[in-house]
Amino acid sequence: MAGKTHRIAVLPGDGTGPEVTAEAVKVLKAAADKFGFELDMETFDWDGTRYLNTGEVLPESAADTLKKFDAILLGAIGHPDVKPGILEKGILLKLRFELDQYINLRPVKLFPGVETPLAGKTPKDIDYLVVRENTGGLYTGIGGFTMKGTKGEVAVQSMVYNRVQVERCLRYAFEQAMKRHTADTPWKGLSEKDKAAGKIGQLTLCGKTNVLTYVYDLWDRAFYEIAEDYPQVKTDYCHVDATCMWMVKNPEWFDVIVTGNMFGDIITDLGAMTQGGMGIAAGGNINPNGVSMFEPIGGSAPKYTGMGVINPMAAICSGAMLLDEVGESEAAKAVETAVAKVTGSKLKSMAAGKMGYSTSEVGDLVVESL
Ligand code: IPM
Ligand code: MN
Repeated sequence: MAGKTHRIAVLPGDGTGPEVTAEAVKVLKAAADKFGFELDMETFDWDGTRYLNTGEVLPESAADTLKKFDAILLGAIGHPDVKPGILEKGILLKLRFELDQYINLRPVKLFPGVETPLAGKTPKDIDYLVVRENTGGLYTGIGGFTMKGTKGEVAVQSMVYNRVQVERCLRYAFEQAMKRHTADTPWKGLSEKDKAAGKIGQLTLCGKTNVLTYVYDLWDRAFYEIAEDYPQVKTDYCHVDATCMWMVKNPEWFDVIVTGNMFGDIITDLGAMTQGGMGIAAGGNINPNGVSMFEPIGGSAPKYTGMGVINPMAAICSGAMLLDEVGESEAAKAVETAVAKVTGSKLKSMAAGKMGYSTSEVGDLVVESL
């Protein structure tokens, strides 16, 4: 019996993006063989090199083209010869906005065998999910200069949120907190009292209600209103600065964190370091009703281009998230398990050039253990 066919657009991107993407594709294909579904993949060269050659950042029809796919796999965007901001805004942010990928889902998970800089912490302590709002806040580009270039110049950049954006993000986060646990296997961070009260998971709102008294006041009010629809989720609030502190000192206090775009960007780099670095940190730009785009949370690491030393695990884990999103959750879990086996028994380090294997050998190891 032939399984479903999933149409995947592949954007390998710049620098080491193509190398890590090739390994993710290799693993996705192996998963398709094993679990009996088809992958119909098409590759697009929308990257910095194409921009340097053509002067066009992204074809006008790019978003419409991508809407015809079931999911997108992205390597990394960022070319050393292109001024910062052009590709980021013109490709990555443009696609996030035009495809309305309003969630950036970033698991912070320490795999077995991976070294964390947090002394004494083990995989059971570092296993939470950050739900970053992905199309609003400081990223909307609202702002401007006056008297640019003079001594008196003024720059303004606004943190903009409307109620709808905040609510849809919060609801998604509450759903994630429900999805991670069951009444029989509640989140281990809950107290006996919480469990007796019927809680199964926790959602922490990360904000700054003491200073950003408009934007995070809106988030805060919406959070507690929506919480009433999710009585099984324990609510928790943390200012963003304190969130950083606890992510380092007591990461086991977190189950799911939800936050705005800018805070989410910052805390997920911190989270990535605690789970072993950019080599293993995966993410997904999600439109729950449309096409989602999966990418390692790190950049294109151009200095390692073509050397075969970059760690493809972040791309492979992003591929696992893609499988989950297109409905192949069994395959997604199997890829995660295979990654855990390889990190737990083979890789010496997550750092580029220190894995003990080349980029493509790491992909092969994951395929073998799958
Ligand atoms: C990320 C990146 C992007 C962001 C940049 C490249 C625009 O840092 O995906 O976290 O800020 O969202
Ligand atoms: Mn970032």
